Amino acid sequence: MQRDAVMEQLTGAKMKHWQLIKENSGIAVAVLDKAEESANSLSAEVLAEFGQILDQLDVYPPKGLIVRSGKAAGFIAGADIGEFSQLDTQEKGRALVDRGWTLFNRLAAVKYPTLALVRGHCLGGGLELALACRYLLAVDESGTKMGLPEVMLGIFPGWGGMLRLPERVGPSAALDMMLTGRTVDGKKAKKLGLADDCVPPRVMEMAARQLLLSGQPRRPLPLMQRLLNGPLKAVVANGARKQVAKKARPEHYPAPYAIIDLWAKHNGNALAAPEVVDRIISSPTARNLVRVFHLQERLKGFGKDANFRAKHVHVIGAGVMGGDIAAWCALRGLTVTLQDQTVERIAPAIARASKLFNRRLRDPLKARLAFDRLIPDPQGEGVRHADVVIEAIFENVEAKHALFRSLEPKLKPGAVLATNTSSLRLEDLRVALQQPERLVGIHFFNPVAMMPLVEVVEAEGCNAGAVQAACAFVKQIDKLPLPVKSAPGFLVNAVLAPYMLAAMRAVDEGLTPETVDEAMLAFGMPMGPIELVDTVGLDIAMAAGKQLAGGAEPPKCLLARVEKNQLGKKTGQGFYDWSSGRAKKGAPGAVPAGLSEKLAKPLVDRVHRLVANGVVADADLADAGVIFGTGFAPFTGGPLHRGKG
Ligand code: NAI
Repeated sequence: MQRDAVMEQLTGAKMKHWQLIKENSGIAVAVLDKAEESANSLSAEVLAEFGQILDQLDVYPPKGLIVRSGKAAGFIAGADIGEFSQLDTQEKGRALVDRGWTLFNRLAAVKYPTLALVRGHCLGGGLELALACRYLLAVDESGTKMGLPEVMLGIFPGWGGMLRLPERVGPSAALDMMLTGRTVDGKKAKKLGLADDCVPPRVMEMAARQLLLSGQPRRPLPLMQRLLNGPLKAVVANGARKQVAKKARPEHYPAPYAIIDLWAKHNGNALAAPEVVDRIISSPTARNLVRVFHLQERLKGFGKDANFRAKHVHVIGAGVMGGDIAAWCALRGLTVTLQDQTVERIAPAIARASKLFNRRLRDPLKARLAFDRLIPDPQGEGVRHADVVIEAIFENVEAKHALFRSLEPKLKPGAVLATNTSSLRLEDLRVALQQPERLVGIHFFNPVAMMPLVEVVEAEGCNAGAVQAACAFVKQIDKLPLPVKSAPGFLVNAVLAPYMLAAMRAVDEGLTPETVDEAMLAFGMPMGPIELVDTVGLDIAMAAGKQLAGGAEPPKCLLARVEKNQLGKKTGQGFYDWSSGRAKKGAPGAVPAGLSEKLAKPLVDRVHRLVANGVVADADLADAGVIFGTGFAPFTGGPLHRGKG
């Protein structure tokens, strides 16, 4: 009786973000519904209120505690990134780590059983909270994703993730998740042992209560995994350091190395190595990666007010680009009709799409459904029903004019009409249309599945609603839309051209391709510029150079190879030998002092010019476009921000 009275009181206790519900069964349910936000994140205030909940439950312990979200948007998206940006002293950095570490240790130590009911995103601090519960029940839904992506912000999971994830899933799987930021869905989480069970939404309430009160012990880690997470930690750590070194240099990305050390030497307790906390949190890399995160959010915001949602996309041209654009749209749930001159030309695109679906969806049924959404359409019947029509045929003005003339009368009113052209002017293409203002550019990059950015191109006098709708469509298929004005090369190709040219001039001056590439890898580029030329194709680099290099002579090293039809990766030989499918590189020579700055300068200068000319709206968007469109060293914060942060 007395207990019920107190529980009633708990229910009535006024909290801003949490609600504590008492059930007649004696189970308490803590529901997080962060005030004034659409998604839950763990701010200092949210954590303090959770501490109050634990205080209250200490007085009259419940039979069990369920922690869940009150948001449709998911469980908890992570720590509050806004607060992270305000850490301007070492004390504040350490206090932030201490706040979650201590609170979640306290949660892990309570006597009554606890369960995190995970539906939707459960990331970073959110997963650390869930890991501190005795049980984790995942809901089997497409939005359910669990992960510790802190490394992508240049930091580490300091609230118990580095301690508890390896205990649950073993160190190899845990390090893989922590060092790549990879997320897993509900089923995978169960398979790994991260979730105790994965159930469909309709039974989740009942399943949560049953599991909570089951008294069921945790599934123990297999002996080998226990050894690897104990006496053999050093061996695992060495292997992990080697793996990381292949992808990230410690001077650019210190966080993954810190994660390995904190796990191996301090059992995941960052407070035991305060100098590491200070170093990582105050590093320019962390600040810049947080900046990149915000830039990404800004790109995602384009088109969100457009009230446009596509169901059906029609793609014309089933070549390198059109085929892959169509496959990507089908993968993302849209109905797609794919047109080309003959069925034979469509077939290779369908075969590539099938591989993509199997690789990405890893579920034969889902892959089958995606496959069914992609419809070969040699007659172009789909145009009449499409919400978005994308032209990706040969780069030829007359061919595109003829196509637009035949397309226009068939288009639905309000349908987006887009071209994927890289080098033709929208102003020249749209003259064939009765309503020229409706043509926009939706410029994808090759390979479509790998490249996150898509430029949305607006020519003078273009219908603003069409541009908004195009941005909304790009966002809908999970790419990042970057609005740009019509100009040669838009943003990305326009900045790459002078950069690749400078790299090839350095080869003309006697440096080996390996040395030139090494200079830019050391600078922080994901791929050297010469390897990039090989990947793009030397013929395409030559054509782009003619258009974008302002009449400069092509480099001799490029001319000589194009004459011999050594066009790069696609012909098996370019600057490098690609016969094995990968560039065969010799050892680089000593990189001359100042070379990387010299090679980066034309790129940076061009970005400045494009911002000044209004091709991109501002410097931040230009940085975002160059990072997501070229892979430009994210730890620097972008070409224009570099050196400032
Ligand atoms: P591609 O040569 O691989 O494919 C073009 C396809 O269009 C061919 O299958 C051809 O049969 C088909 N086609 C030509 N005329 C047609 C018509 N009237 N009706 C139906 N189908 C027709 O060309 P790719 O590389 O895919 O380029 C296509 C467009 O994408 C071009 O405008 C290009 O500038 C642009 N682009 C190309 C990129 C690349 O890396 N290849 C990158 C970004 C844009």
